Amino acid sequence: MDENISLPPVDLGPIRVKTPVVLSPMAGVTNWPFRVLCEEYGPEGLYVAEMITARALVARNPKALRLCRFAPTESPRSLQLYGVSPGITELAAKIVVDEHMADHVDLNFGCPVPKVTRRGGGSALPWKTGLFREILRRVVAVCEPAGIPVTAKIRVGIDHEHETFLEAGHIAQEEGCAAVTLHARTTAEYYGGHSDWSRIAELVESLDIPVFGNGDIWSAEDAMAMVRETGCAGVAIGRGCQGRPWLFGDIRNAFAGSDERIDPTLGEVGGIILRHAELLTEFYDGDEMMAAHDLRKHVAWYLKGFPVGGGTRRAFMECEDLADIRRQVAMLDADIPYPKAVENKPRGRVRYARKVHLPYGWLDSQELTEEQRRTVISADPLDASY
Ligand SMILES: Cc1cc2nc3c(=O)[nH]c(=O)nc-3n(C[C@H](O)[C@H](O)[C@H](O)COP(=O)(O)O)c2cc1C
Repeated sequence: MDENISLPPVDLGPIRVKTPVVLSPMAGVTNWPFRVLCEEYGPEGLYVAEMITARALVARNPKALRLCRFAPTESPRSLQLYGVSPGITELAAKIVVDEHMADHVDLNFGCPVPKVTRRGGGSALPWKTGLFREILRRVVAVCEPAGIPVTAKIRVGIDHEHETFLEAGHIAQEEGCAAVTLHARTTAEYYGGHSDWSRIAELVESLDIPVFGNGDIWSAEDAMAMVRETGCAGVAIGRGCQGRPWLFGDIRNAFAGSDERIDPTLGEVGGIILRHAELLTEFYDGDEMMAAHDLRKHVAWYLKGFPVGGGTRRAFMECEDLADIRRQVAMLDADIPYPKAVENKPRGRVRYARKVHLPYGWLDSQELTEEQRRTVISADPLDASY
């Protein structure tokens, strides 16, 4: 067992994150039902909602509004905005502030998905330092007076010839961000290989504000190793908790100096699946079918590595309501122990980008041309979680 490490709290403006462990925002995953499950295992962390497109929020797209909801138990309420247009992102932040929607706003500058980077958004954006600065400045100006800290989530860069993280970190610090999260991969690296934690150490070294390290934490031991190797103020967990919300309990134990780890049996995992289904039904205003469909990807993750046959997995994928899910859960062999073979191993997306998609001429200069400004800003999408 690695030597234990205990981490001091991290203050984001008025918010004290007692255990500096963050549930990294994941589109289609970190809605409030999943956040609640995670938070129950590690009640003192920071659990960020999936990204919400600023323009969709401004347009009051119902799906975007649903994504802005929190469970009454969630504290602090943390929401992530994605925008390319400074004006629209500022308006979205204003809605969050005026309508008391959240206690913390994270800004997404890390998304590598082609439909986002092709429009100059997500991880493509910090390359245009002026635009990046303008978005941060305008959002901080709206949020800070209301006591809402703003953080930025970034990648190392677009590729190794176009690294942005050090400059982006400094701009975020100068513009009043309370912290930065670095996913230590480039856009081109997407989710492939292992993230390069030495880049996190570089950023920690170069900034005064807290840096949350992100990338390839699959276990409490990985979380401790990242802290030890990088000196980061906290860690952010994405794929590692897919189908394993108890990972936050393990990490909390580790940072509290305890070797205790949670290894649920299949029966216990079945109980979590059912609870997740019930919470999702609430999230979808009682629509059990939507809940059952949303649950499918989670069930695949929950059952990963368990000796459960293809027939059972298929049956879960065909569930259409809570009664179906209850029936399938009841049929699981409750005594099967947690499969050690998949514990602490990569899960979810693991591939490299085939190609980085960017707006025409994007890499020619770090200045945004007038034409680029017009095209990227008018292309800001209306979809809720883009
Ligand atoms: C399915 C999925 C959805 C994601 N959605 C978002 C998102 O909405 N906002 C964001 O900033 N990052 C998003 N990410 C990136 C994660 O927050 C995280 O930075 C990344 O997965 C690396 O951390 P990990 O190695 O712990 O998974 C997503 C990742 C995955 C796998």
